[in-house]
Amino acid sequence: MKFFVDTAEIDAIAELNDLGMVDGVTTNPSLILKSGRDILEVTKEICDLVDGPVSAEVVATEAEDMIAEGRKLAKIAPNIAVKVPLTWAGLKTCKTLSDEGQMVNVTLCFSTNQAILAAKAGATFISPFIGRLDDINLDGMDLIADIRQVYDNYGFETEILAASIRTVNHVTDSARIGADVITAPPAVIKKLADHPLTDKGLETFLADWAKTGQKIL
Ligand code: G3P
Repeated sequence: MKFFVDTAEIDAIAELNDLGMVDGVTTNPSLILKSGRDILEVTKEICDLVDGPVSAEVVATEAEDMIAEGRKLAKIAPNIAVKVPLTWAGLKTCKTLSDEGQMVNVTLCFSTNQAILAAKAGATFISPFIGRLDDINLDGMDLIADIRQVYDNYGFETEILAASIRTVNHVTDSARIGADVITAPPAVIKKLADHPLTDKGLETFLADWAKTGQKIL
């Protein structure tokens, strides 16, 4: 399972990257706003830091303009995945750019039918948004499972990138279902290491070790 980090904060990406936990990065207009950085500058810095795919999202809504924006974003670095929304204009952009050999991440996916269209348009990644479905009392994980089944039925090569991940359980469930990638905020990835029994056990080991009076170094 690949881990992408869902942020445009350089320090947070660098910290997890040093731990070998970053297979890629995803950004979107809201995350660029949050970073307070220029999209072209910050995306270049992220691409220099991380070897894997870095998603940068177009903001035009007409295909011609989306394609132009996508080509400009793609020039930032070879590891850019151009991110487009799941609209007909986005799908047209996906088809055009993927035919040119460009990685494309189709985002804002909320149904299995949308995921089928993205795969047929040649998407490298499909991004179903788990948390936002949970927000409206649906089950985001059902969508991941449906897309997994349908993609496997037909051998679609588009990778399922489970997005809008809010909790550590979203990560576990995505892994169980077989999502190819999860993208999560740094705080969620860091929480994956937490367990109270780990903390309790370590406390006991250290207390007992102190009683031995020994040193390793
Ligand atoms: O990966 C998509 C993500 O940035 C959206 O997350 O929490 O705003 O639904 P959220």
